[in-house]
Amino acid sequence: MTRVAIIGAGPSGTAQLRAFASAAAKGAEIPEIVCYEKQDDWGGLWNYTWRTGLDEHGEPVHCSMYRYLWSNGPKECLEFADYTFEEHFGKLIASYPPRAVLADYIKGRVEKSGVRKFCKFNHAAHNVTYSDETGMFSVTVRDLDNGEWNTEEFDYVVVASGHFSIPNVPQFDGMETFNGRVLHAHDFRDAREFIDQDILIIGTSYSAEDIASQCHKYGCKSVTISHRTSPTHFHWPDSFSEVPLLTNVNRKTVTFKDGTSKEVDAIILCTGYLHHFPFMDNSLRLETENRLWPLNLYQGVVWEDNPKVFYIGMQDQFYTFNMFDAQAWYARDVIMGRIQLPSKEEMQKDSAAWRAREETLEDDEQMIWFQGDYTQALIDQTDYPSFDIEGVNKTFMEWEHHKHEDIMGFRNNAYRSLITGNQSPVHHTPWMDAMDDSMESYLQDS
Ligand SMILES: Cc1cc2nc3c(=O)[nH]c(=O)nc-3n(C[C@H](O)[C@H](O)[C@H](O)COP(=O)(O)OP(=O)(O)OC[C@H]3O[C@@H](n4cnc5c(N)ncnc54)[C@H](O)[C@@H]3O)c2cc1C
Ligand SMILES: NC(=O)c1ccc[n+]([C@@H]2O[C@H](COP(=O)([O-])OP(=O)(O)OC[C@H]3O[C@@H](n4cnc5c(N)ncnc54)[C@H](OP(=O)(O)O)[C@@H]3O)[C@@H](O)[C@H]2O)c1
Repeated sequence: MTRVAIIGAGPSGTAQLRAFASAAAKGAEIPEIVCYEKQDDWGGLWNYTWRTGLDEHGEPVHCSMYRYLWSNGPKECLEFADYTFEEHFGKLIASYPPRAVLADYIKGRVEKSGVRKFCKFNHAAHNVTYSDETGMFSVTVRDLDNGEWNTEEFDYVVVASGHFSIPNVPQFDGMETFNGRVLHAHDFRDAREFIDQDILIIGTSYSAEDIASQCHKYGCKSVTISHRTSPTHFHWPDSFSEVPLLTNVNRKTVTFKDGTSKEVDAIILCTGYLHHFPFMDNSLRLETENRLWPLNLYQGVVWEDNPKVFYIGMQDQFYTFNMFDAQAWYARDVIMGRIQLPSKEEMQKDSAAWRAREETLEDDEQMIWFQGDYTQALIDQTDYPSFDIEGVNKTFMEWEHHKHEDIMGFRNNAYRSLITGNQSPVHHTPWMDAMDDSMESYLQDS
């Protein structure tokens, strides 16, 4: 029987499990599947831990999420087309759920699909190689419960191990003299650690925005945001300032490219993440920066050098859960022989055309339409339930608009589900005043 290994049971890996379950539910005979997940449960980044650095088994801690994290985009933009929020929670809920609520939603769909039996939790993939002779992959995993190493053979490998876990950590002159805490966003856990502190944030993307906002919400004294390319252009509270790139650190004094300097208590590097797949053989390993169209992936999914390897969720992300679904359904249909792949040359030509379009994109709006078109192109090729992608794009536009209107208040808005058409309620408490991020609190009606 055909055997498929899935590495990772986050939103991408569970999308792959769900794709196969959906085919099975319609009467298809599906391959034998083994999903290796190094954490003790599914959910990926949404599976929170207080740990940082290495875990209790000496494996790198995967989690980059933190306490009090709420969705940074409308939930209506990521809703599964085959499992709505309303179905999961039994009622309409507000548009920017905290982490625990989204984690519950992600898990709910796969629990219902009965795919837990395919998962081996506490199993870390350490080596994946391919044999030209046998046409099979050898996948070596470490069983973290008993320390045993096992190797199994597979016909296909789906890599769904995420790419926002291994921090990109730049060096700035004098950093070693700093008299305070220096950390990467990956290790940020609780904004209360920075109460009454002057903090310096390096970077201007989503981690920078959100960690800066969190620290302000929970009581830091001031936030300085240092940019490499350009400032954020948000209307920040008075205690914020935006400065050019950090050039030098001397004890507590930090100096920037324009010659100005100030004293800070902590430096938080919101400098992004590395695509890092040390377990993949060189010939199978995706190497890319974080962008909308990594090369060597036909349809953004199929490893062109060996089209029995698939990567799910490797793009920079506006679209998330529903895009991972579209990719997983596509990978499933290639594996099940429902989609025939063209020659390598044709795959490369197709990828080059997407990349060429990606390179013309000038702003977030254009990037969102690009990723929407990509998701639509995948959905058109499988039986994943079609949904209103144009509506999702327009909701993203509203989101962008709301952020620029009020960066501390954008989460107080509510949107319409693109799957059910139902309008979500406004949350009972404005985000700035909502200090309790528990699921119980969020789901209360008032
Ligand atoms: C701080 C932060 C906040 C975010 N907030 C949002 C948000 O609000 N909304 C949104 O839509 N997206 C958000 N994202 C984006 C996030 O990438 C996706 O939501 C989603 O988690 C990606 O799913 P994934 O399955 O591809 O990867 P991950 O969620 O990273 O899951 C990968 C899984 O693979 C496992 N794994 C890794 N290596 C191995 C190995 N060698 N062997 C076995 N298992 C392995 C990991 O343990 C993990 O469970 C956020 C990302 C970050 C970093
Ligand atoms: N739910 C939430 O609230 C939430 C919170 C945090 C993160 N996230 C998600 O997490 C993912 C990752 O976001 P991210 O912001 O961590 O990464 P990112 O989007 O890749 O951004 C990386 C940032 O680091 C900067 N940078 C990189 N190298 C640098 C260097 N050497 N010096 C100075 N600056 C440098 C980049 O600056 P340039 O612009 O100059 O390249 C950019 O601003 C996203 O999907 C995001 O949505 C969500």
